[in-house]
Amino acid sequence: PERMKTGPLVGAIDQGTSSTRFLVFNAKTAELISQHHVEIKQHFPKEGWVEQDPEEILQSVYECMERTCEKLGQLDIDVSNIKAVGVTNQRETTLVWDKETGAPLYNAIVWLDLRTQSTVERLIDKTPGKSKNHLKHKTGLPISTYFSAVKLRWLMDNVEEVAEAVLTHRAMFGTVDSWLIWCLTGGRSGGVHVTDVTNASRTMLFNIHTLNWDPELCRYFDVPMEILAEVKSSSEIYGSLSSGSLAGVPISGCLGDQSAALVGQMCFQDGQAKNTYGTGCFLLRNTGVEPVMSDHGLLTTVAYKLGKDTPAYYALEGSVAIAGAVVRWLKDNMGIIRSSAEIEKLAGDVGSSYGCYFVPAFSGLYAPYWEPSARGIICGLTQFTNRSHLAFAALEAVCFQTREILDAMNQDYGVPLSQLQVDGGMTTNRLLMQLQADILCVPVVKPSMSETTALGVAMAAGAAKGVGVWSLAPGDLATVPTERYQPQINTEESEFRYARWKKAVQKAMNWEIT
Ligand code: G3P
Repeated sequence: PERMKTGPLVGAIDQGTSSTRFLVFNAKTAELISQHHVEIKQHFPKEGWVEQDPEEILQSVYECMERTCEKLGQLDIDVSNIKAVGVTNQRETTLVWDKETGAPLYNAIVWLDLRTQSTVERLIDKTPGKSKNHLKHKTGLPISTYFSAVKLRWLMDNVEEVAEAVLTHRAMFGTVDSWLIWCLTGGRSGGVHVTDVTNASRTMLFNIHTLNWDPELCRYFDVPMEILAEVKSSSEIYGSLSSGSLAGVPISGCLGDQSAALVGQMCFQDGQAKNTYGTGCFLLRNTGVEPVMSDHGLLTTVAYKLGKDTPAYYALEGSVAIAGAVVRWLKDNMGIIRSSAEIEKLAGDVGSSYGCYFVPAFSGLYAPYWEPSARGIICGLTQFTNRSHLAFAALEAVCFQTREILDAMNQDYGVPLSQLQVDGGMTTNRLLMQLQADILCVPVVKPSMSETTALGVAMAAGAAKGVGVWSLAPGDLATVPTERYQPQINTEESEFRYARWKKAVQKAMNWEIT
């Protein structure tokens, strides 16, 4: 039978912390045509360590692409309609591989990993005034376990194969985007070693003003510049897929996942913001073409640069390490739910935590505190507390953490957000969304198309020079239907609960006595 002519399609690889997906969009309508996803394993070899297998990450991408192509075939859609592919990814996660063998030299060290806590403390101790903000003027970031440079330093200091490969000029460093693009474009036989400005801005080696790797930062972390990828814009042709059903298709979009969600939510105007609930939770506010430095514990980051000759846009970002991860913890470690979706019913059964507060500071606390020595606590327990209350407290924790970010954002930016645009896996949880509106005291707005991260990078890939198949202007998607959650409790009640949360946070801080 004759295959359907769909018009141009664009594929998006979305490699997140918990799963990998490949999604195909119609470039004329932005309609999601087909997709496939697989879960990714996380390894916890020691307390505080989080690793992933780079080969598993790569194979999951191939699997998702091939399975989606099969699904397109079942829909009678020819895969040759796919004109471009974009890559969006978990940021900061750090890999080193050998460019001659193509083999990874260690597992990927995941952004949440805490093994560099003592290194970070030592670095901060050595700065004038013992300030974690010593490198902020160039990087927009505090010195923290979160970013790639300290993870890379650890690899060079502790893994013999990495040290050796660096010495013999065989090492390549990359975040997940670089690893994937290098492998997908041919690896050791001709793969391109690139990254985009958004991913580069999360390494602590990148000057967000000049948009270049910074020799001084590289010296500070003692990282040889030859192992770094070439930094490109977020929307241009980097190379072509070298194998599989989509061989020959250009890879022409690359964005860190939080930047991709900002683009997919059409936050192109100064002041527009989105909050994505994934493994962690990340609120980004577009601040236009000038970086805004935070006085309230937020990051300044490159939001996107959609083409070689277009300006870079910046964002203020509030990063929360643990959001969806707390639900996964209740499932995998505590066994109080069998699937993540069950938490909504379990928490809904009680509709309140009855004074129980749960600060899931499993990886220290990120914004606005940046305190690596914080640890998780559950407090306010009574004989009455049961697993439903705990489930409710876990969901409330995600909302309180977002509230802290929003407060900081409003102070830094000057103009308060009048509503919050949301996306990500957890936003299917209606109880959570209502709680979020209640705790923020502003409406929460969710687009009915929840795959905004993939959509964002599909837009970047499809609109790239030399591809040019994405023909929608941002305004064309402004009419996408949304779900709206209005605050339903009064401000006093909300403030009361928030004040208790703050008290709980203080108990979680500086947990380790050194
Ligand atoms: O900075 C880490 C972030 O990019 C990870 O996103 O969606 O995997 O939680 P996610």
